[in-house]
Amino acid sequence: MSSQDIPEETLPSKQGEAHEGAVAVAGDPFADPGLPPHEHRIQDIDERAAKRSERAVAFMFTLSMLATIGFIAAYLAIPVDKNIYVFPIGHVSAMNFTLGLTLGVALFLIGAGAVHWARTLMSDVEHIDERHPIEAPSEVRAKVIADFHQGAAESAMGRRKLIRNSMFGALSLLPLSGVFLLGGLSKAPGTKLRHTAWGKGKRLVNQNTNQPLRPEDIQVGSLTFAMPEGMKEEDHDFQNQIAKAALMLVRLRPENIKDKKELDWSVDGIVAFSKICTHVGCPINLYEQQTHHVLCPCHQSTFDLSDGGRVVFGPAGHALPQLRIKVNDKGYLEAMGDFQEPVGPAFWERG
Ligand code: FES
Repeated sequence: MSSQDIPEETLPSKQGEAHEGAVAVAGDPFADPGLPPHEHRIQDIDERAAKRSERAVAFMFTLSMLATIGFIAAYLAIPVDKNIYVFPIGHVSAMNFTLGLTLGVALFLIGAGAVHWARTLMSDVEHIDERHPIEAPSEVRAKVIADFHQGAAESAMGRRKLIRNSMFGALSLLPLSGVFLLGGLSKAPGTKLRHTAWGKGKRLVNQNTNQPLRPEDIQVGSLTFAMPEGMKEEDHDFQNQIAKAALMLVRLRPENIKDKKELDWSVDGIVAFSKICTHVGCPINLYEQQTHHVLCPCHQSTFDLSDGGRVVFGPAGHALPQLRIKVNDKGYLEAMGDFQEPVGPAFWERG
């Protein structure tokens, strides 16, 4: 905007008049100071300064575009299980860190560019809106106060001091329950997820039929859910226990198993993995036979059961824990111990 484009009412002489026109109203101890003179921005009177601001805004938007391209490149290029050391946070997922950083920079620069644009180049005209009194007429206020007193008298609050005091006590204590609930969310589970109901020699039982499983019960292409022998739905602790011990079994062709440890821990291609998603703990229940991938329905984390339960897509940060199994001398599948790492969500430190 050049100086010729500036509205006349915002020129210093006009605004100065408003300021000088300050008047004291009779009976009002404070004089209305009026508006101070309007100060024009350098960009309004110097075309070169305006151009500089324009370039600065365009520069921020361009950097934002680059950050977005960096976000996409990081998403495509960084392996999901790669960790890096970031001072002072420690070891973090390289992909999560880079995605957060680039997205944060892209959003910040869009915001900063918009603010700079508004402050230096958008219209700088001052408008005056008249403010009307918001106070209610005195008769309305008097009626409200009278109604309040009448309501208080009818509720007998003044006379029934025991009710009044206990009610105030109850109302002031109630918010504490929320404080305690929120406080509970800040506690990490400690070692509670380190041990499950699995142990050496525990037979694998079909979760639907309650029957111990033999290798021949697990067919290629099917997903079988299992739990440790001895757990009963009527047990008071059943839900807590199954939430940690739930297991899924899949039979793969041994030549398709890419991970050597996984192969050693399997029986004739039958692999057993925790069914609890390592993102925030939903049960996994979708299996794709061709790719050997299982999918968590909550946020689409996808794990490769032919490659150590590795995360191939989605927000989960860790592979699914595998349970080491064997066939006992009676021909049933049994565990060779507990999981060797905590099952479930990975948002606290596992070490
Ligand atoms: S809980 Fe499985 S992807 Fe979020």
